[in-house]
Amino acid sequence: MTIIETHGLTKHYSRGKIRALEDLSISVEAGRIFSLLGPNGAGKTTLIKLLLGIVFPTRGSATVLGRDISDPRAHSRLGYLAENHRFPEFLTARQTLYYYGKMSGVAPQTLKKRIPGLLALVNLSKWEQVKIRKFSKGMLQRVGIAQALCNDPELLFLDEPTDGIDPVGRREIRDILQRLRDQGKTIFLNSHLLSEVERISDEVAILKNGRLIRQGRVEEFISIKEQYQVQVAESGTQVAEICRELNIPMIPQNGNVLISVGDEEQLNRFIDRLRQEGVLIRAITPRKISLEDFFIDVIEETAEGSP
Ligand SMILES: Nc1ncnc2c1ncn2[C@@H]1O[C@H](COP(=O)(O)OP(=O)(O)OP(=O)(O)O)[C@@H](O)[C@H]1O
Ligand SMILES: [Mg+2]
Repeated sequence: MTIIETHGLTKHYSRGKIRALEDLSISVEAGRIFSLLGPNGAGKTTLIKLLLGIVFPTRGSATVLGRDISDPRAHSRLGYLAENHRFPEFLTARQTLYYYGKMSGVAPQTLKKRIPGLLALVNLSKWEQVKIRKFSKGMLQRVGIAQALCNDPELLFLDEPTDGIDPVGRREIRDILQRLRDQGKTIFLNSHLLSEVERISDEVAILKNGRLIRQGRVEEFISIKEQYQVQVAESGTQVAEICRELNIPMIPQNGNVLISVGDEEQLNRFIDRLRQEGVLIRAITPRKISLEDFFIDVIEETAEGSP
């Protein structure tokens, strides 16, 4: 089921001088973690704000949960954690969830029942009576995620939820997001942290200067065909000889060889020859590029002129 769909969505600010988003058409399937990537100023926050009805499109249209974004009924089933959010420091974690939950229209009785579960989900049960001013950045982000869940939304928008957080805190947030996805929620994430995105996202879209330059499943971007790391026991001349014979480019790397083969058949021919010559193979690993490498490549590819 498609949960978000945009058609030619465009947002200009300052009477057209700033083109934050241009002609964006994307769709997001329910039950996924969808990540929006892009350099600073690419239009990521603008897209979330448009989908939430916080700002209005200059042109184009979009639906969220099957309703047009101009229809306020769509918003009752959404959760939102804003970029650089600030909670009142004099509130405790529990009070914060209570007040934010009330602001999203949840009945007080429902909230009282729901809050302990939300605090447990984000590992803050022991901190429920502690004031926000004592919270670390990671804890604040976790309160923020719990706050976004107060109305039990189907779709969650999180704008940079792991920004400025240490690796342990990031892992905690990653685990929470995976748990939410397993419960059937859809998560729309804006992030700069590509290694995080790579680990948890099902699908990514890359924006640059307000335009979509790529959309697809993470595996499509990071699995690189044709390169295998082959680890062999001996250092080399025999292997180099076999590579020459089979016309396979190779890069020696301290006892390992990185080879580029056209396909798996060629890889197997290579293995057969290594074994014939009695070369001991320790490991063969397909080499992947990271999402970060991919991201930098596509951003640079589109560096000149229009994307
Ligand atoms: N209210 C506004 N008025 C004028 N220009 C704006 C406004 N909001 C955003 N912009 C501009 O629109 C462009 C896109 O901004 P946006 O905040 O959507 O980018 P972003 O991808 O979220 O960036 P970041 O990674 O830094 O959060 C930027 O050039 C920004 O300066
Ligand atoms: Mg932003």
